[in-house]
Amino acid sequence: MARVQAGVTTSHVPAIGAAIDRGQTETDYWRPVFAGYEFSKRWMAEQRPDVIFLVYNDHASNFSLECLPTFAIGCAEEFTVADEGFGPRPVPPVLGHPELACHIAESLILDDFDLTIMNKLDVDHGLTVPMSLLFGQPTAWPVKVIPFAVNVVEYPQPSGQRCFNLGRALRRAIESFPEDLNVQVWGTGGMSHQLQGPRAGFINSTFDQSFLDRLVDDPDALCQIRHLEYLRESGSEGIEMIMWLVMRGAMGERVREVHRHYHVPASNSAVGHLIVEPNS
Ligand code: DHB
Ligand code: FE
Repeated sequence: MARVQAGVTTSHVPAIGAAIDRGQTETDYWRPVFAGYEFSKRWMAEQRPDVIFLVYNDHASNFSLECLPTFAIGCAEEFTVADEGFGPRPVPPVLGHPELACHIAESLILDDFDLTIMNKLDVDHGLTVPMSLLFGQPTAWPVKVIPFAVNVVEYPQPSGQRCFNLGRALRRAIESFPEDLNVQVWGTGGMSHQLQGPRAGFINSTFDQSFLDRLVDDPDALCQIRHLEYLRESGSEGIEMIMWLVMRGAMGERVREVHRHYHVPASNSAVGHLIVEPNS
């Protein structure tokens, strides 16, 4: 049977992708950001997952106000890298796992979660930047990816509780797939940041550090955070952190913290990164 091997969360700041693509990771500004991923890359090389269920948000690259699903699952063989205005990032195409993706879609839909099935999907920095942070710059990604897009860009976003519940159902879906596969669940985005308005540049390290602590030990408390509280405490784009709750829901009751990294700033964001393993 397939098993949930580990959970990873990380910010997906587009400027991080640009720094990697332009060979700037060793500059004074970027070195402390990337230093926190050195352990993670070694850990990933040892773990060798077969599939990553990658929870991310599209930033008006594939979707638009004409069509904006709350939850969308990528079921295709391959996903093209989106052109976000400067040409597609120079990263390999993202290969999917249609059999597992379709199994998960069926299981989640029958578990009462409404998903949009994507047989064609361009993936943007929300997905490719985390891949670069954890795998570096290979000629081909060493793992299959099931993209899972959550609407966090336009009201009404789903609640954190719903994302957590979806993660719990996701674990049941993965563990009922008959093939022997090691599957990781990733949640991307965050941490506190605001890209617009009078509070542009807003960062709240106290909130972020507490979020990291509670993601490990008390996810139920995080499920109670309402949208207005995210807005007030973590900036207008901090709501991306509800995607981390999908990961945590898939890990079960208790987790073992493997690695943590937090750094301010990277572009306009506080960078947060966590690796956990299920403890049961
Ligand atoms: C930034 C962060 C994001 O998560 C994003 O999607 C776009 C920009 C930033 O910090 O610049
Ligand atoms: Fe983002």
